[in-house]
Amino acid sequence: MMIVLPDPADPASDGTQTVPAASGQRLAAPSQPDGTTLVQGRTWIDPASQATITPDAALASDEVARTRLFLVLSAILAAACGIATPLLSGSVASRLSVTAVCFGCATLLLSFRRALTAELLANQRRWTIMCALLVGSSAVAVWFFGVFSPAPMVGTFGIYFLCLGRSARAALYSYLGGAIAHIVPSVAFAVHLLPDPGLLRPTAATGDMLVSVFMVQVVFACTYALARGSQKNTRDAVQKLHAALVQVQKREALLAEANLELDQALQGGHRGPLSGRRVAAWTLGAVVGRGAMGDVYEARRDDGQRAAVKILHRALAMDPTHVKRFLREAQIVSRMRSRHVVRLLDFGNLESPGDGQGALPPYIAMELLDGHDLGWHLRREGRMTTELALEMIDQLADALTEAAAADVVHRDLKPQNVFLAESAAGALWKVLDFGVSKLASDPGTLTHGTPIGTPAYMAPEQARGDRVDARADVFSLACIAYRALTGRPAFSGNEVPQILFDACFAQPVRPGSLAPLGPDVERALALGLAKRADERIASAADFAAALRSACSDALSPALRARADALLAAAPWGSRPR
Ligand SMILES: Nc1ncnc2c1ncn2[C@@H]1O[C@H](COP(=O)(O)OP(=O)(O)O)[C@@H](O)[C@H]1O
Ligand SMILES: [Mg+2]
Repeated sequence: MMIVLPDPADPASDGTQTVPAASGQRLAAPSQPDGTTLVQGRTWIDPASQATITPDAALASDEVARTRLFLVLSAILAAACGIATPLLSGSVASRLSVTAVCFGCATLLLSFRRALTAELLANQRRWTIMCALLVGSSAVAVWFFGVFSPAPMVGTFGIYFLCLGRSARAALYSYLGGAIAHIVPSVAFAVHLLPDPGLLRPTAATGDMLVSVFMVQVVFACTYALARGSQKNTRDAVQKLHAALVQVQKREALLAEANLELDQALQGGHRGPLSGRRVAAWTLGAVVGRGAMGDVYEARRDDGQRAAVKILHRALAMDPTHVKRFLREAQIVSRMRSRHVVRLLDFGNLESPGDGQGALPPYIAMELLDGHDLGWHLRREGRMTTELALEMIDQLADALTEAAAADVVHRDLKPQNVFLAESAAGALWKVLDFGVSKLASDPGTLTHGTPIGTPAYMAPEQARGDRVDARADVFSLACIAYRALTGRPAFSGNEVPQILFDACFAQPVRPGSLAPLGPDVERALALGLAKRADERIASAADFAAALRSACSDALSPALRARADALLAAAPWGSRPR
């Protein structure tokens, strides 16, 4: 669980956390004793999953860790001095007292290390006492060993540590304190103003000694600059990371909100404009789904038979092309026998609906499926396990194989048109919505040359408005596999033309960079997503089989070679210039 530390250098900081609100604005929420956070006085949010740790809090927590390490290293240094001192020359009394100071210092440092908390670090008075003790004992050691001995290097160590802290003033004071504490006695000893009491006294000329003092001062200054530079870089990096994190959290919050609204809009479970009306033998109940062509109602016949009845949107019902396409869906579905295609019960174009309330648009009655479409599942789960995805692709391929055998191209295969129907016997994936499907052999089209379908899952030849065959559905199936396995659509964007352009010319992001997928899975996806239909895997069943063997790293050598050639010509993530 994240801890949020108050920033002692920031008087405004009071230990509050910044939590992105669902609407995207940020709320300051007081931390609770159990680590959860109170938002607007009513919602409890687990900070481990929701809170944004502020840069100050992140740096404060880093400071605690760094201080602990510093205290341990200082204790080791002090103990090493304590062990070495009795081996040196000098009066017994002074050696004994320095040894005692060193061991006392090491013990004190370790007890500080044990007691160190964010609060102690934030407590200026106690921290100052500790620093004064450290400086004092270092001064004793330097005085004992001599200002021209290696002892002043302890100052470098201290300056580096103290200057990494968040307070610029404290950093400057510690550097100046250390530098002055060194320069004043060393110059005084070098010019023989005072006698040098140190153990290691140089016999060098005054000029040489002054040069060595200068060099130590340069090292101190460089240490100061290095520590402040690192501190600034760390702060900048943490701030950038924080800004990115806030952006991501805002987007996630907005997305969650949009998902909720989308669920409400698409899933229904609520009354639609036609709820309660009668359509042929069916009495319409709640809306169970919405699509581009129509609303789908739960319906019941007098004999108790339940159904899902799709009613063409009223605006589309004005256009005979749409009416023809809608009814052709029913004819096509009525020919399908696969248990992975939604079963048709009845359809019609009602001249007079029989309830005396005016004409109704055409309808299709299908078996009522319990469960949710793939779009709903993916919105919740992000991505699917390999096992589930393979099972789904196998079952969808079964439906597409039957469609291909009947010379039908679905042309709008996408997560919203794929349904996981749950029943007591288990769950089955079913293909819905043959609304824009086409007889492959039929040169006529109801699209008048305009590409129809859903851009993000549309084959390049379909996006261009060219003739399509079963291989267009293989492309869409590969897009679904890519989306399910990686958690990200192969092609996405805000502008339809850009998505269509990408589907025709750009390669999606390498799947292995989005999820742990092996090179064979990437190859199988590349073969399904080939831009040219003649380079693509030719049938849905072959694609499903290739993906299955790819998932156990056993793609055939021939398919590997084909995929490698495709990826060499157009690597993942590439776009034409
Ligand atoms: N038979 C059904 N049983 C339950 N829900 C269905 C059924 N058919 C469709 N739906 C729901 O309605 C949504 C829209 O149906 P769809 O046939 O795709 O309509 P459209 O042709 O308008 O896109 C689907 O995404 C699904 O959630
Ligand atoms: Mg649909």
